[in-house]
Amino acid sequence: MSLTKRLLILGAVVALFLGGGLFFTMDVIKFEWLSFMEVQPSYRPMEEPLPLPARAVPVEGAAYIPGMGAPVNPVEADEVSLTRGKMLYDVHCALCHGAEGRGDGVIAAFLQERKPADLTADSVQTKSDGALFLVISNGTEGGMPALNENLTVRERWDVVNYLRTLKP
Ligand code: HEC
Repeated sequence: MSLTKRLLILGAVVALFLGGGLFFTMDVIKFEWLSFMEVQPSYRPMEEPLPLPARAVPVEGAAYIPGMGAPVNPVEADEVSLTRGKMLYDVHCALCHGAEGRGDGVIAAFLQERKPADLTADSVQTKSDGALFLVISNGTEGGMPALNENLTVRERWDVVNYLRTLKP
């Protein structure tokens, strides 16, 4: 066999080998590898979270128990809390409720069905701290979004304390 012929055959074999490899890398041929990470009771995006295991304790402490009414504010409205509350308010609330809480944030005009509440109004300020906490946590049906994933429990109480300073 001539050298060129041998090289050609070698080249063809290598090409076949590499080409065949593509079937695997491009998932045309797929093996179910053992993957223990997948075999666990986790939930995937867009799935309902699993119910809490019996006797589980929330890491942040029990913020409130559904169905047991509004919780009591455990955070004193001292300077630290109010400073943090204002910072958090400016980040999480002002876009809708406005810098002074009058319901005139930058995106308020674009909300067609329900306008952000005027947080200085009596209807809001007469609510208990716990009731405000629940609004921030759970939002309102078809209106305010639930922000319990944006703010920790402590941060929500700081915002509640700050809301009290918005009274006219
Ligand atoms: C995406 C816009 C948006 C953001 C962000 C937002 N809100 Fe609201 N909020 C609304 C709307 C809209 C309403 C009116 C809800 C309704 O009419 O049901 C509302 C209502 C409220 C009310 C009154 C609820 C009642 O029952 O009277 C409070 C209190 C409130 N928001 C506090 C906050 C706080 C505090 C934050 C930040 C942690 C915040 N909101 C962030 C849109 C927003």
